[in-house]
Formats: sequence, structure tokens, C-alpha cells
Amino acid sequence: MSDLLQAVGGEGFKPFDLSNPAQYAKGNTPMMSKAACYINGTWVTSKRTDKTIEVEDPCTNQVIGVIAHFGKEETLAAIAAAKTAFESWKKVLPNERAAAVRRWGELMTQAAEGMGTILSRESGKVFAEGKGEVIYSASFGDWYAGEAERIYGDVISGPHLGTQATVYREPIGVVGLITPWNFPAAMITRAACAAIAAGCTVVLKPAQLTPFSALVLAQLAGEAGIPAGVFNVVTGESASIGSALVESFDIRKISFTGSTRVGKQLYQGSAETMKKLGLELGGNAPYLVFEDADLPRAADDLIAAKFRNSGQTCISVNRALVQSSIYDEFTKLVADRVKALKVGNSFDPSAKIGAVIGKPTVDHMAKVVEDAVAKGAKVEVGGHAVPGAGYFFEPTVLSNVPHDTALCCREELFGPVLPMVRFDTEEEGVRMANDTRAGLAGYFSTSDYRRQFRVAHALQFGMIGCNDSAMSAACIPFGGVKESGLGRDGSKYGIEPFTDCKYVLFSTV
Ligand code: SIN
Repeated sequence: MSDLLQAVGGEGFKPFDLSNPAQYAKGNTPMMSKAACYINGTWVTSKRTDKTIEVEDPCTNQVIGVIAHFGKEETLAAIAAAKTAFESWKKVLPNERAAAVRRWGELMTQAAEGMGTILSRESGKVFAEGKGEVIYSASFGDWYAGEAERIYGDVISGPHLGTQATVYREPIGVVGLITPWNFPAAMITRAACAAIAAGCTVVLKPAQLTPFSALVLAQLAGEAGIPAGVFNVVTGESASIGSALVESFDIRKISFTGSTRVGKQLYQGSAETMKKLGLELGGNAPYLVFEDADLPRAADDLIAAKFRNSGQTCISVNRALVQSSIYDEFTKLVADRVKALKVGNSFDPSAKIGAVIGKPTVDHMAKVVEDAVAKGAKVEVGGHAVPGAGYFFEPTVLSNVPHDTALCCREELFGPVLPMVRFDTEEEGVRMANDTRAGLAGYFSTSDYRRQFRVAHALQFGMIGCNDSAMSAACIPFGGVKESGLGRDGSKYGIEPFTDCKYVLFSTV
């Protein structure tokens, strides 16, 4: 253990009591019994600084706890611990690594009520989504346990007589993981389970707005038997932790989910040490509705993909593009359904839409609505911030939105505003859908099977939903093209990026 860090709480210390979820659902019970980070299998504070950061509930503006304010020095200590742990973890048999990540996932499932409560509280999600995210997070444990045992190499005929070429896949080393607030647990486990299953070790910097889920994951990692130093969590000063991860040669890969702007900075910063990068960045997802679609079903799919997590997902629908002949009928169908969506606190069982993460999002939604209206759009539903405590914005539908000029079509929204745009022909709809530098997800609804193939091929996105918009799962390759990033998370494609390819030439004579 680094001299800079001191253990807190004694052996077996658990800062979260996951057996009693109700205590975290409301009021002032601090989420964590002590502001500490998890480094080298131990809960630690720093001798350098005792500063802490307050974390707020976006539904009530109440402070729900404090986290440790670590910086560069503490991050370097975590990297050193992960580097040491890598030397032994990479030699552990795949079936033992598999057992550890599977157990980690099982513990998440068992703790789904408690962890879902903490996750909902810090993110403002409705509890059904918070608990659902914990189950989704757990599924990566099971999935990558399977993949851990299926990392294959190759044997190739040698390049000249009397040789054999062998290709091994070896774990890449220590991985720096930087994750967002919109999915405080799932964006961690989808990369961390892959990395750990492959034999890597991890230093995680979770989002400062939603750190408690990450720290719960650390507690469960310890309980699952993931050895000391394999999974480390550092909270605190984002820029210092981020630059320590980027500048360190010992970090051999950065896995980042977040904005395109920060992704580009990480890409540039990683050049100096030639790190590998996994980047899952912003989107601007279109949803095309063709005149031959099953309209009620398309409306349900569109609304699910738009308003999940209050519109704050990278694959949220950003723009609905609707064929002119059905535009009025479909817009009314959508508007009527959206009117019925209740906004409310995470623990109000009748609420379908929770809070957004903060005031800047509320202000931004108001700004894009105002911009669209000034350019000729009409507000069909919503359009305003919800007065009172917390950060809420009404689920909003805008019609007659000018696609080429309205901000809500040009940029990623990340909030509960749905612009509805007209198009005439399939060619025009596809051209509008592709008119973005983002390329994460796109969706369309049609009942014509030939059009299903044509449009699926023509859309320039890493993920396409055709007559189904619920595309996230551990078994699928999640990721984008163009400025939406590099690499894939989940599926068989998600583990290989945590390995390096090593070619060995054997002489057989
Ligand atoms: C994201 O918003 O980046 C991911 C959402 C998901 O996994 O569905």
C-alpha cells in the first residue's frame, strides 16, 4: 500500500448497507458511512488531503453524501496497485477469472433493491429504471464469464519451411476506465467485466455526479473475491484523475463513455504513450417512420427509445423523421401517448420520467425548444421546466421542426425533447437520417421487408433498430461509427480489445 493512503474501517469494512434499501430512498441518510476510495482491495483515505465533494439528489436537491476528493498522487498510487496486481491476475486461469466476474454479477443481482435505490437516488432515475440498470449491469458479469474462457489464438503455417507461427491473445495490462453519470453502474460493468475477464486490471474514475454506484460495485467486487488491486475506484478531482490516467505509460488502454468533445481530447492525449482506446461517444439518433409502418407499435418503440432515462442516453432518439403521408396522424398518436407520461421523483411508483441530471440540462432543453419555435416549430406537448425542487423538464413533442436549422436536430439533445420532422421519399429520409457526424444508433419502422434490408444497409450507424428499439444488452456489440467512437462493448467483440495479439515463430527443425 502506498504511504500516501491509509486504510479506514478495519478488515471487512463495508461502507454500504445493502440489506436495508429503505434507509437510502429518502431523507438524509448518507449513502456511504465513510468518504473513501477503493484501492488495492482496501477502503482508503488520503494523508495528503481530507477534502470531500458533496453529491446531490437531482429530484430533491438534497445532499445525499460526500465522496473523497482524490487527485493525481492518489491516482498514481491506484495505478501502481493495479500494475502489481496485473502481474498475478494475468496468470490466473480463465475459468477462475470467469468465476470471479460471474460471482460479481450475481452479487449485483442479489443487491438489486439496495443498489438500485442508491443508483436512482444519485441519478434521478425512476426506481424501475434504477433497479433495471443494476440487472443490466449484472448481465455483463455472466456474459464476460462466458467470454473469458473463449479467448482463442491461432496456429498458422509458418512463413518458411520448418516453422510454425502461433498467435496468442494476451491481456493488455492496466486499463483506465472513465464512465458517465447517465448509467452509473452499467457503463462500468460492461467494460470492467470484459477487462477483468480478459486478465486486465482496472483503475476506474466514475462520474463525479454519480459516484456511489461505482463504490457499491467496489464493495461487491471485494465480496466476490476479485483480488486486491484488480478493480480500483478513485473519486475526486476529475481533470487531475483523468490526466494521471492519460499520461501514465502504465495505463495501456483507456475505455471511455461520454461526450465526443472529451473523447477527442483523450484520443489526442493518448498518442504520447500510444495507448489503445475504446470510445463510446455521443449520438444523434434518427427514428424514421415510413408510411407502411405499424403506427401504434412505431409510436411505442419511438417513445421508449426517446424517453428512457429522461432522454439521457447516447442512443436516445434525437429526431423523429416521419413520412409526409402519415405525419399528422403519427404525430397525434405520439403526442397523445407522451401527454400521459407522468414526471416525478424516483420513488413515486406512478412516475415514468425522472429528473434530468442538473440545471444546465433543464436550461438547455428550454433553449432548444425556444430555438425550434422561433424557426417555425409548434409545441404539441410539454415545452417547459417543471417548477419546484429538483431538475425536471416536461416530456416534450415538437412538430414541423426544420431539420436543417433547428438546434434540436443538429446537436445531441440528451434530454426529454422530441422533434418531429417530415420527409417525402425514402431517399430523402435516409439522406436526412445520415446528415450528422455522429454514427451511434439509428432506428426505423416499416412493414415492407425489402425496405428493411435497403434502409438497414443505407443507414450509417453502428447500431440499427428495425421495428424494435430496445437494443441494449450484454450480448450485442454496442458502439458507433464516424465521430461516435472506436470499438465495441458487449458481445464477443467486446473482449478482444482488452487483449493484445502476440505472434511467436517456432522453428520445428
Ligand atoms: C449510453 O447511453 O451510453 C448507453 C446506453 C445503453 O447501454 O443502453
